[in-house]
Amino acid sequence: MDLIIAANWKMHKTNAETVQFCSVIRQFEDDFRGVEVLICPPFTALSAAESALKGSSIRLGAQNMHWEAQGARTGEISASMLLELRVGYVIIGHSERRHLMGEDDNQVRNKIGTALENGLKPILCVGETEKEREQGATEEVIKKQLSGALEGHAPQDLYNLVVAYEPVWAIGTGKAASAEDADSAAQLIRNFFRDKFDAGAADSLRIQYGGSVKAENIDSFVGLSSVQGALVGGASLEVNTFSSLIQAARKAV
Ligand code: PGA
Repeated sequence: MDLIIAANWKMHKTNAETVQFCSVIRQFEDDFRGVEVLICPPFTALSAAESALKGSSIRLGAQNMHWEAQGARTGEISASMLLELRVGYVIIGHSERRHLMGEDDNQVRNKIGTALENGLKPILCVGETEKEREQGATEEVIKKQLSGALEGHAPQDLYNLVVAYEPVWAIGTGKAASAEDADSAAQLIRNFFRDKFDAGAADSLRIQYGGSVKAENIDSFVGLSSVQGALVGGASLEVNTFSSLIQAARKAV
């Protein structure tokens, strides 16, 4: 299974900065074999990224999406708007959306459903806060987020899903999870799929680790048989740093 490494740019980069990044990263493409590389710019830069990556194997993802097809939803973006820009993936339920924008499990479930119906591959983010971790609730939180997001889906609907385990305390803090913690969360996630869906859904699932991933520590995550990639924030913003991270990941598998 190829690794999947996604750049989550969050609220960073103008169109001009996006074009600059994309035109440079294309030059490294030959060094990325065996890794599916994904750039998730802000909505405003998707079109610029799409043009700058034309003909490249680097794929595009969005950072969010609304579940309705269209309508009076000021400030929102629909699946068809993303598909028009040849977006293949969409990050759903990122902890910043859950904790800063109040996104709940119902909204996450609706978004996952719409993404799958439209052929967009969702990257579903799950992970516990520091407080939940201290209370020993990590397992319970992850299972609740997974059932909240996936209830009612048939196993074969989920073959295109990616799940990112992103402990909230590790995001943007420079304090990445240990390989042991990432491994046990990834195993928990895959076992959930085996129990609630079927072996096919569990085996085809790609699980990313996210939270302070950088070139210096990615080997400890993608070196695990339970983890197939990473969701990268801060270390994806500078093109040389991000390409070094991808190359370090390739060497680790
Ligand atoms: P970080 O962010 O790599 O800056 O910790 C990861 C994420 O939020 O997806």
